[in-house]
Amino acid sequence: MRHFLTLRDFSKDEILEIISLAVKIKKEAKSGEFKPYLKDKVLGMIFEKSSTRTRVSFEVGIHQLGGKGLFLSTDDIQLGRGEPLKDTARVLSRMVDMVMIRTFGQERLEEFAKYSTVPLISGLSDTYHPMQLLADYMTICEHGKNKDLIVAYVGDGNNIANSWLMLASKIGFELRISTPKGYEPNQDVLKNAYEFAKKSGAKILMCQKPQEAVKNADVVTTDTWVSMGQESEKKRRVKDFEGFMVDDTIMALAQKDAMFLHCLPAYRGYEVSDEVFEAHEKEIFDEAENRLHAQKAVMVWLDKQRKN
Ligand code: CP
Ligand code: NVA
Repeated sequence: MRHFLTLRDFSKDEILEIISLAVKIKKEAKSGEFKPYLKDKVLGMIFEKSSTRTRVSFEVGIHQLGGKGLFLSTDDIQLGRGEPLKDTARVLSRMVDMVMIRTFGQERLEEFAKYSTVPLISGLSDTYHPMQLLADYMTICEHGKNKDLIVAYVGDGNNIANSWLMLASKIGFELRISTPKGYEPNQDVLKNAYEFAKKSGAKILMCQKPQEAVKNADVVTTDTWVSMGQESEKKRRVKDFEGFMVDDTIMALAQKDAMFLHCLPAYRGYEVSDEVFEAHEKEIFDEAENRLHAQKAVMVWLDKQRKN
């Protein structure tokens, strides 16, 4: 049985296999064909943080696959009143077929997985957001940008930046990251990425200035400067991130037809200007839609691993 907690645990071939499956499932759905790959299966969805895309895409996704999703907010279940995670894992394992959790520390996912007898999927933690990156890479492939790919990530070295490091180092493309001092990605993740890059041929570059990172990039991407759980740091962060907004002058340094991606929600006037956002709204919302298709593929893939 496999879990989906970070792309660190997946090979390049497995990532590409899941993306191919997502493309196939998307094509079927677009032609009105919703195959019941997970007929009568139930997905438990525990949310310890807010969500729009992750919640809707998992709930719609499992429904379209012939199963059912259970939305379990920690405000409503006993976990929120102190029932141990390991007990929650063992109870849910007896009743549902798969679990998705959006939480704080990555170690919470690992603890749940240790006690779970059904596959567990990360819907984001403080360290990673692997589902997002599958959708992002799927979108890059659909837009025909995956050959000799250069991605520039400008902004906070957060869960999204860490996940880009995992994706790039597994797939083998060039990733340039530019963050303000003190906001670099997780050092362990970076170390892992450099290690994986040796095998895949990925180029991982840390750039002092956003302008350096975006030069001739095929894809420019960013994320909020204030992630969930960091709300009290907003004032300081906004000051520290001065000069890191992706605006027209930054985009002008990238390839002429460069894509701009954002996992959303986006905060215009902070990490991205309204002009850049609206000029690239087609690919941004393709990216958002692909969460649905990529997640359906992950659920089908994990279910297949259980049977093998
Ligand atoms: N990108 C993303 O995960 O969005 P939500 O927080 O709305 O789920
Ligand atoms: N870095 C953001 C991503 C939201 C999808 C957060 O963790 O809040």
